[in-house]
Amino acid sequence: MKKQDNSGIVVLVSGASSGIGKSTAEYLSQLGYRVYGTSRRPRDYPQPEKYALIEMDVRDSASVNAAVETVLRNEGHIDVLVNNAGYGIGGPVEETDPRIVEQQLDTNFFGLYRVLHRVLKEMRRQGSGRIINMSSIGGRIGLPYQGIYSASKFAVEGLTEALYKELHGSGIRVLMIEPGDYKTGFTARREMVVPDELQDRMAQSRRIIEHDEQSGRPPLEIAQLIDKVIRKKYPRLRYPVGAFDQKLSLFLKRILPDSCFDRIIMQYYKVKSGK
Ligand SMILES: NC(=O)c1ccc[n+]([C@@H]2O[C@H](COP(=O)([O-])OP(=O)(O)OC[C@H]3O[C@@H](n4cnc5c(N)ncnc54)[C@H](OP(=O)(O)O)[C@@H]3O)[C@@H](O)[C@H]2O)c1
Repeated sequence: MKKQDNSGIVVLVSGASSGIGKSTAEYLSQLGYRVYGTSRRPRDYPQPEKYALIEMDVRDSASVNAAVETVLRNEGHIDVLVNNAGYGIGGPVEETDPRIVEQQLDTNFFGLYRVLHRVLKEMRRQGSGRIINMSSIGGRIGLPYQGIYSASKFAVEGLTEALYKELHGSGIRVLMIEPGDYKTGFTARREMVVPDELQDRMAQSRRIIEHDEQSGRPPLEIAQLIDKVIRKKYPRLRYPVGAFDQKLSLFLKRILPDSCFDRIIMQYYKVKSGK
């Protein structure tokens, strides 16, 4: 088989200091892509050999602009954006302070939008490009005790679904990856918002959520999928990835009445009813 030459393809990966982003930056750079990964604190990490780790905080437009300018100054163009930076909040919706909700949206939704908005301007100028937004299975299913996180990913889904249509025929393609559980730094970094009196009630659900993530699949699988979708001529809008039962749940959500599907999810996560 002919070896692909990726050396002219410039990829910007947000949130590349850990997990899915790091795996993606490593894998794509091994395949010869010219990769720029980002972190809020790149100096906290050893500078990777095959790609650059540059500073970007997606919560700050000036920081986003500076990072994009760095790539453009060095390369002159950006062909692929992997819009990946994000984190989770865990706990009951009603116990989450609105400021914490704003912070979650500020990173997972507005942050993703800040990067997309800046890079898309450049891709319009180029007349080509590919934007890969990192959604989640939680962007298709409202996950109990991850409601704020789910809301941020539902927002990503709505935005991407609309933009997909708006970019039709432009030479630029936008799509989403919807991971189930992958073993990354996500679990350890999750901000938990659980008042003492609810700790016991939530304990079993929390154990299931964390166990599923920590016994999740390797993020390399997503990096390999990203390489495939970059090379696909006509990528789809959505790429769900993960364990069989997680992909099955998306199918069941499509065909079952809400009341029935919600019961399955509540039973799975052992959500306790009560006042
Ligand atoms: N792991 C899973 O099971 C799973 C499932 C579905 C979806 N996802 C999604 O996949 C993406 C990556 O998560 P992961 O699992 O790889 O988690 P991770 O290992 O914790 O990595 C998260 C990355 O996001 C970056 N980040 C966080 N806040 C940021 C900010 N304000 N500005 C810039 N970068 C920021 C972090 O970089 P710094 O801290 O260095 O800035 C880090 O590199 C997230 O969008 C997550 O929602 C993960």
